[in-house]
Amino acid sequence: MGDYNVLADYEQALAAVRERTDFVPKIGIVLGSGLGGLADDIEVVTRISYSDLDGFPHSTVEGHKGEYIFGYIDSVPVVLMNGRVHFYEGYPMQKVVLPVRVMALMGVEAIILTNAAGGLNPNFHPGTLMCISDVNTAFVPSPLIGPNDSRLGVRFPDVSAVFDKELQGLLHKCADDLGIELADGVYLQITGPAYETPNEVKMYAMFGADAVGMSTGCEGIALRHMGMKILGITCITDMAIVNTTFETSHEEIQKVANRAGKDLQKLVKEVVRRI
Ligand code: HPA
Repeated sequence: MGDYNVLADYEQALAAVRERTDFVPKIGIVLGSGLGGLADDIEVVTRISYSDLDGFPHSTVEGHKGEYIFGYIDSVPVVLMNGRVHFYEGYPMQKVVLPVRVMALMGVEAIILTNAAGGLNPNFHPGTLMCISDVNTAFVPSPLIGPNDSRLGVRFPDVSAVFDKELQGLLHKCADDLGIELADGVYLQITGPAYETPNEVKMYAMFGADAVGMSTGCEGIALRHMGMKILGITCITDMAIVNTTFETSHEEIQKVANRAGKDLQKLVKEVVRRI
């Protein structure tokens, strides 16, 4: 770990992308599990599978794809991450955040992170869309552990506002205009792959978290470290607080995500148009 050169790793990954396309996106978008509908709804220029890119981590989870899609939403050039890798798949955190870091290095102006998560806020229900106001990453290793390369960011980054306030305002405006209900809340990241036990659910709620999931927190920290403007949107696919009586299954979560995903898709497209 001591001599791991993060920037060299990311630059090699960027070069692997650049060997295949010179497309310059304005906005990067990460599609969470079950939220891949947007991938079929853009004007595609080219697709690159992570498994074809040297040094890239790739996902092993059923239903999770792993590719960059370059194209246009209306006339806005975008890059989509259709699928991401998770810490529980066994990659170190520095590798988990590599695909989002590489999007930032492609020169995008902002990144929209989406995910599926369990609801902790009793006012939520499966299908609730939540604008992420903050993240709690205290239960996962930091993606910034290891030597810091100051060309990426500072050693001790300020994370008092991981998510961009203006973009959150724009997201709410778009939701109002489209008549889509949108909550606000804190996303807490766990390592997974197990869902939360009843006692963990109580603890996370006591810490002020509104949703719990297995991604996004580390990506937010890594991108904020680079000074990136970030917007985060969670789709609540199941209520973690009733896990004591209902089992959470991967299939059920994907079904709900697919349904609420349609609204999320509309929202993301509208934000991209107005950004
Ligand atoms: N916990 C963690 N991750 C999740 C959940 C959950 O309850 N639901 C969907 N992703």
